Amino acid sequence: MKNIIIAIDGPAGAGKSTIAKIIAGKLGIEYIDSGAMYRAITLKLYQLRCDLNDEVSINQILEDTRIDFIKNSIFLDGKNVDEEIRTPMINENVSLVASLKIVRQKLVAIQQNIGKNKSIIMDGRDIGTYVFPHAHYKFFLTASVEERAYRRWKEMHEKGFQVNIKDIKEDIMKRDDMDTHREINPLYKASDAIEIDTTGKTMEVV
Ligand code: CDP
Repeated sequence: MKNIIIAIDGPAGAGKSTIAKIIAGKLGIEYIDSGAMYRAITLKLYQLRCDLNDEVSINQILEDTRIDFIKNSIFLDGKNVDEEIRTPMINENVSLVASLKIVRQKLVAIQQNIGKNKSIIMDGRDIGTYVFPHAHYKFFLTASVEERAYRRWKEMHEKGFQVNIKDIKEDIMKRDDMDTHREINPLYKASDAIEIDTTGKTMEVV
């Protein structure tokens, strides 16, 4: 079988990762969560209290950073950070870090490298438009902001975070705005992507 690349893009909470994991399981291919990579870098930069205007330091940190995916889990410098990258603090700061040119250059190179010799399904914001413009299959998932906020609230609530839905909705709208309007690789639907509005649909239907 030739290597296939499946790209799924869309705004926060549209259900990309849930769908991508199901498809990866069915096809027996690897799932790569590109958002988790931006989250992991955000975690590291904040842990090191790095000044986001200091390109030299950021570059050095990126050089010294290792990100691996093993069985749908993300490892930052050898440590599993699945939980740590999904806190409200990371939610609030990830889109700012993801707007930095040097961060994107580094992560896009890693993402393209992962897809070089194997079949993968990758979700994110710029996968079908920029990372893999020649992906074999492209999907763009959306849903109403209310539903996306509710889904994220439920997810966080189940993990034990005391969060209120209004704050989550605001965070999602702020991130959508930053992701859509940033200068480098903004979020938009590739002209050849299939758009699916997941509002009110179960994962099976989607
Ligand atoms: O899970 P959720 O949809 O909330 O977000 P995510 O996929 O974990 O991505 C977190 C953030 O990383 C996004 O809001 C973007 O700012 C950034 N991101 C990006 O810029 N490009 C990507 N390919 C993936 C994520």
